[in-house]
Amino acid sequence: MEEIKKKLHAKGLERHEMLKKLIKDHGDVVLQQTTIDMVLSGQKSIVALLTDTSKLDPEEGIRFKGFSIPELQQKLPRLHPEGEPLPEGLFYLMLMGEIPSHAEVKTISYDLARRAHHIPQYVFDVIDAVPKDAHPMIQLNTAILAMSTQSHFRKAYEEGMDKKDFWEPMFEGVMDLIARLPVIAAYIYRRVFHRGQYIDINPSLDWAGNLAYMMGYDTDAVKRLMRLYMVIHADHEGGNVSAHATHLVGSALSNPYYSFAAGMNGLAGPLHGMANQEVMHWIDKLLLFSESCCPTKDQIKEFALKTISDGQVIPGYGHAVLRKTDPRFTVQLEFANKYVPDAPYIKVVRDIYEVMPGFLDDLGKVKNPYPNVDAISGALLTSFGITEHPIYTVLFGVSRSMGVLSSLIWDRLYQLPLERPSSQPLEWFMKKAGMDIK
Ligand SMILES: CC(C)(COP(=O)(O)OP(=O)(O)OC[C@H]1O[C@@H](n2cnc3c(N)ncnc32)[C@H](O)[C@@H]1OP(=O)(O)O)[C@@H](O)C(=O)NCCC(=O)NCCS
Repeated sequence: MEEIKKKLHAKGLERHEMLKKLIKDHGDVVLQQTTIDMVLSGQKSIVALLTDTSKLDPEEGIRFKGFSIPELQQKLPRLHPEGEPLPEGLFYLMLMGEIPSHAEVKTISYDLARRAHHIPQYVFDVIDAVPKDAHPMIQLNTAILAMSTQSHFRKAYEEGMDKKDFWEPMFEGVMDLIARLPVIAAYIYRRVFHRGQYIDINPSLDWAGNLAYMMGYDTDAVKRLMRLYMVIHADHEGGNVSAHATHLVGSALSNPYYSFAAGMNGLAGPLHGMANQEVMHWIDKLLLFSESCCPTKDQIKEFALKTISDGQVIPGYGHAVLRKTDPRFTVQLEFANKYVPDAPYIKVVRDIYEVMPGFLDDLGKVKNPYPNVDAISGALLTSFGITEHPIYTVLFGVSRSMGVLSSLIWDRLYQLPLERPSSQPLEWFMKKAGMDIK
């Protein structure tokens, strides 16, 4: 691990110099003009963040350091030739900017397994103090905050560390946190859904395989699914709510636990990560509505219309940036077609996919009528036996840690400043527009 850290530090020094030179020599270059619509419609088209880990193209979908998901499936190291790539390899790619060797992935895997053991008992006691029926995201975030007492970063700051060295305790905290999240997620899952019958970590397994194992799924099939799930949810450039919130809070030099907890609070929103649970809820209501296991296309449209008339959104469809079917949806559908083609929920998801883009397009206002990652992820997990919907966003969060926390290390390597955009009251915008102000 020391080798990887040394290499990362060297890259950090080099890129920090590049950033400094860019600002010094070209700081006055105009990037874009902003309009009232751009600011007041969620700032989606405003370039306001520096994020290196991944970039989202509206037509093509996500690329991690330039690699699409199908390319990653070919290039990233895997345990078996037929299996899915290891998420540890994607983490290495996002952090170091290079496809790792098998040996480098193994180093990360071992390091994470080693760190996973050291969760203090009080963290589990804190989870146990939360009511069992509290949403698993509440339990996850409570545990993340409880773990922040162990923050290397906070200690280093208090001891008066030079800011150019902040990346190092941040790195240590991030690795601890990523290592421990599967243990925490599995603990919450077994606590809530399996009468508290916990399963200890198996140090010989990889990060995602261990998560499946500790949740109680010791089969190659579920471990393969978990590796896929952990890779595709890991990052979606810097502006999505969980990434942006983690980065923003980190800009105050909050430790990685505080920063990541902020991101996870955002992920728990139904328009973001909680959409995976919402999709299953919507499908179950559709089945009740149609009084059948296989609703017809007309019934799907009828129920979608009812949802819209009730002032709600169709979960799993639409996106703030994407304008095509999300490749993360496609890769999951391919996985489902290969391994569980006849699973009842997968059939319903396929039927919804045939109907929904046309239906949403006809509404005339939805910018992207196509499915996103959440339109199928719950159906896929359910089809492999993980049927407890409230755990789905927690699994999303475990995966998301790899992207947003590797960015957080880079924020400190770049020595990015406190983030603090300016705000104005409504009257300021109206005055700019030449409107009368009463
Ligand atoms: C993801 C999402 C929040 C993006 O929001 P956005 O960028 O504001 O989307 P748009 O610009 O297309 O929104 C324009 C209008 O279409 C509506 N719309 C967008 N997606 C919709 C959907 N899936 N169902 C119904 N209406 C939708 C919006 O609510 C908005 O309506 P309004 O003008 O009455 O307020 C939105 O598509 C959504 O709510 N999707 C469902 C939740 C979901 O799947 N989230 C996970 C995203 S990965």
